[in-house]
Amino acid sequence: MAEYGHKASVRFENVEKSFGDVKVLRDFDLEVEPGEFVVLLGASGSGKTTALRILSGLEQPSAGSVHIDERNVTEILPKYRDISMVFQSYALYPHKTVAENIGFPLRVRGMEKAEIDAATLDSARQVQLESLLERYPRELSGGQRQRVALARAIIRRPSVFLMDEPLSNLDAKLRGHMRAQLKHMQKSLGTTTIYVTHDQIEAMTLAHRVAILERGILQQLATPAEIYNDPANLFVAQFIGSPPMNVIHGKLDGQDFVTNGVRVQTTASGQIEDGVMGVRPEDCSLATPSEGTLTCKIYTNELIGDHALVTVEWGDDQISVKAPKDFTGEQGDEVGVHIPRNHIFVFDRADGRRVR
Ligand SMILES: Nc1ncnc2c1ncn2[C@@H]1O[C@H](COP(=O)(O)OP(=O)(O)OP(=O)(O)O)[C@@H](O)[C@H]1O
Ligand SMILES: [Mg+2]
Repeated sequence: MAEYGHKASVRFENVEKSFGDVKVLRDFDLEVEPGEFVVLLGASGSGKTTALRILSGLEQPSAGSVHIDERNVTEILPKYRDISMVFQSYALYPHKTVAENIGFPLRVRGMEKAEIDAATLDSARQVQLESLLERYPRELSGGQRQRVALARAIIRRPSVFLMDEPLSNLDAKLRGHMRAQLKHMQKSLGTTTIYVTHDQIEAMTLAHRVAILERGILQQLATPAEIYNDPANLFVAQFIGSPPMNVIHGKLDGQDFVTNGVRVQTTASGQIEDGVMGVRPEDCSLATPSEGTLTCKIYTNELIGDHALVTVEWGDDQISVKAPKDFTGEQGDEVGVHIPRNHIFVFDRADGRRVR
């Protein structure tokens, strides 16, 4: 067993996992540094839980190996891996109080009662449960139970934390609060953490690096800023950002992207018949009809609060623009959309490859 509070590195090497004919993870490589917070982000069914279960030892890979520090643990029993996992569907002991549930991992280790009590209180505080220590799970809300499961994982001070959507049962406000708290806690404990979510905001705010998974294939592993500013392909570009990146279909002809007969200057160069031009709503701006890069008709104008979200029609595509909150244009009005050249991404539609 590694020392209490040790920070481990983690490595998946060419991991494959199939259930019958279904390939759930393909050629999965991921390296996590000691003390790093990596978020695995992907849609439902992309293989996130499976990856965590393989690392924790609850599932065997069909091929490849997993390593904790320099040790190949692929064949090692879960209890010898020094990992705590908070499950997507967590189970608490129904006949134990909150305090007993949280302290249980230390009781199993045979620690002194006074020491367990102090650690229990400390873990409970991390997730704001200190006033509920004497309750039983049936007397708690779903969100409170989820926090008990978190506290029970925290108290072990493992070498690696695995967390599978640990905030999914919380309401929006508590979720935001717990997110900040988790980030703070991970930084102060410094425990290597792999955290699974399908919520891009959670991924961007929590992670040192985000790993984006689609149908079992790792699409990109990079810092939140790199994922946002320098997406590896069309999938990542459209997955991150809210509202999502605009995609406009057309062809790349030299430096120009040609869409519905209009030539838009880009910083790309080459020839792509079936191309996609991408630009984020916050990088576009509205102009008079004659001054924009494109001249479009307004489809809707929605006041969000601090800004207006204006959607315009361009051929078969729609383009969203974040506009000032006092923009008064109405449905059907003509408007110019200015698309700055240096904010244009270009992709090959055939394979989603990014050209620029
Ligand atoms: N024991 C199993 N037997 C057969 N198929 C399975 C098994 N476990 C998972 N799968 C399949 O593997 C795929 C990936 O599942 P996984 O639970 O890893 O997805 P996920 O990314 O965690 O999704 P979610 O966000 O919905 O939790 C799914 O298509 C799922 O149906
Ligand atoms: Mg899952």
